[in-house]
Amino acid sequence: MKRPGTKIFLDSGDPEETKTVLKALGWLDGQTTNPTLIAKSPEAAARKEQGQPFTNEELLEFYQHVVQKISHLIPQGSVSIETYADRTTTAADMLNQARQFNAWIPNAHIKFPTTAEGLKAAQQALAEGIRVNMTLVFSQAQAAAVYAATAGAKRGDVFLSPFIGRLDDIGQNGIELIRNIQRMYFGGDGHVMVLAASIRSIAPLQSLLGLKVDITTAPAKVLLAWAGGKDASAALTQLKSIPDEALSLNADWQSFDLHHELTDKGIAKFSEDWNSLLQAAVK
Ligand code: E4P
Repeated sequence: MKRPGTKIFLDSGDPEETKTVLKALGWLDGQTTNPTLIAKSPEAAARKEQGQPFTNEELLEFYQHVVQKISHLIPQGSVSIETYADRTTTAADMLNQARQFNAWIPNAHIKFPTTAEGLKAAQQALAEGIRVNMTLVFSQAQAAAVYAATAGAKRGDVFLSPFIGRLDDIGQNGIELIRNIQRMYFGGDGHVMVLAASIRSIAPLQSLLGLKVDITTAPAKVLLAWAGGKDASAALTQLKSIPDEALSLNADWQSFDLHHELTDKGIAKFSEDWNSLLQAAVK
């Protein structure tokens, strides 16, 4: 199948899916993982089902094996590994994880939540040569803050992950947020690559390809349907427009409002899913 201008990543914590999608598409530019996807991967899900919790060390070892298998399958691609973060996790905690995870594979991007602590950790990570993927992005202000906080970084070293599907879930047009961010970044130096995430069907995937977004990540189910030539047949639901904001990319990143309810919810869910693997046997 013809390779689009947009880089295509698989959104999955299961290396078997990497193999399947590679076979169907003929290529993959990268893969994104997160704590929920790791919890859903067959081995972790089976252990949880059987009431066999991981120790913290075992769970990290498991995550390491998973990303090493993926990295081996797509050595020329990027593999995103997400730091554990809950409401109390500091930048120093995230940075320690980033250093550890980055040593697992040569082609990592380390995911940090787009919060003040996450951005502080990302700045230091970049200074140490660690590539970053700022996740749980739901607003243009968060995108502006990521741009400003990472100014001077090399293109390819910083990904920004706006979550389309979760905005759609609350009736907002996530694709429009992508358009607004693209417009805003057009006035910049291009050092941040937009990675559209949380794609649950072919319709948004096709819109993103039309917008020539830098990267998109989608689950195996969506990529396989796309590879199979399926078209977006479902009627698009009415979604509330997200207005474009006039934000200066040269402002101090700390001056932007980083708060978004969905970022908080996302952090809570990711930490809960990770902890569920550790606590599976606790009755
Ligand atoms: C990938 O980087 C994201 O974590 C993922 O796409 C989120 O998808 P979801 O909103 O379907 O959980």
